[in-house]
Amino acid sequence: MKPCSRVSEQLWRVEPNRKRARSTRGFSVAAIGILRTSDQDSYARRFEQIIGNSSALEAVLEQVERVAPTGSTVLIQGETGTGKELIAHAIHNISSRIGRPFVRLNCAAIPLDLLESELFGHEKGAFTGAIAQKIGRFELADKGTLFLDEVGDIPPALQPKLLRVLQEQEFERLGSTRTHQVDVRLVAATNRDLAEMVKRGEFRSDLYYRLNVFPILLPPLRERREDIPALVTHFVEILGGRMGREIEHIPPETMSALGSYHWPGNIRELQNLIERAVILSNDGVLPNPLPAAEAEQRATISLGATTLRDSERTLILQTLKAVRWVIGGPKGAAAKLGLARTTLIHKMQKLGISRPGLQRRENVMEPAPQGPGSLSQLQ
Ligand SMILES: Nc1ncnc2c1ncn2[C@@H]1O[C@H](COP(=O)(O)OP(=O)(O)OP(=O)(O)O)[C@@H](O)[C@H]1O
Ligand SMILES: [Mg+2]
Repeated sequence: MKPCSRVSEQLWRVEPNRKRARSTRGFSVAAIGILRTSDQDSYARRFEQIIGNSSALEAVLEQVERVAPTGSTVLIQGETGTGKELIAHAIHNISSRIGRPFVRLNCAAIPLDLLESELFGHEKGAFTGAIAQKIGRFELADKGTLFLDEVGDIPPALQPKLLRVLQEQEFERLGSTRTHQVDVRLVAATNRDLAEMVKRGEFRSDLYYRLNVFPILLPPLRERREDIPALVTHFVEILGGRMGREIEHIPPETMSALGSYHWPGNIRELQNLIERAVILSNDGVLPNPLPAAEAEQRATISLGATTLRDSERTLILQTLKAVRWVIGGPKGAAAKLGLARTTLIHKMQKLGISRPGLQRRENVMEPAPQGPGSLSQLQ
């Protein structure tokens, strides 16, 4: 896969039945492959493939390969949408626990008073409303993997209990004195800075050290831009297939804009934007799904403002367009650029900038005499 800086040199074609280059390791695909039972399944599973071959992702996958067979606790950290859950699945799928349960619990999504019972289960009558016995996630995950998502949201009162089950592999259901032994591999994830939370006294240090046996840090997408083209073509192919819309090519400007966007929502955001673009596509061409302001900004960058003169010209033009070619006055381009009105007019003349449609006139740079302060339209 070509690095992102060179994406604009090529036309991005999407060939639905072609096997694209993925991570050269191939392990993620193989691991998922074990689970394939039917075409239907394999179609859905493609979403779980780990796409990309940046060195940052390669380093993460190496760690995954190393830790997966050990049974050790793994703590996956990274911004939202970076693929923490995907990595948790991969750890389970290439461990000897594959075929055993992979149980997920999002600690942030469960009301605090129910979390304990979700984790450890309860006996009938253990508390008001406990009308039947309930098996907790630790028991359900016995011999398998428990994925505790948003582990930073575990309330302080529950943290010692979690520590105990991690250390002793034993616990009691709520309302019971009987101790249950389990064999559970824990993979935890969070987008919060647990070390900082420990410093602030919001997270127990002993639990943090117990979770942090093998930390994996997933870098944000903006730090592995080389993965963007492969991710874009992957989602175009999958989503296009799902919606019955065949996308034949991705214009270089679109790929270039996607490659330079900062992706605060990481791969999830990219996936959702591609879905929007596939819906909006016409004649098999993928449109640029980035918001207009972003697209304009990126387009400007990709036009290549390489010299100081180019940059100055671009900035002046953008400002003039933004203020509808008003030069003077408090809301005019000169004020926005921090220039005197006459200086701006001089610069525009030097750079050959004139309002579109007015170039034919001789003296295009003089502001219209429309009253004090307005100085707006170029004549
Ligand atoms: N390398 C990748 N290749 C293909 N798809 C990916 C990759 N990384 C993430 N995804 C997809 O992006 C979406 C978000 O990933 P995931 O849910 O694993 O993120 P997360 O880090 O757990 O986010 P959050 O912190 O918000 O829970 C999922 O649909 C996932 O399949
Ligand atoms: Mg997640």
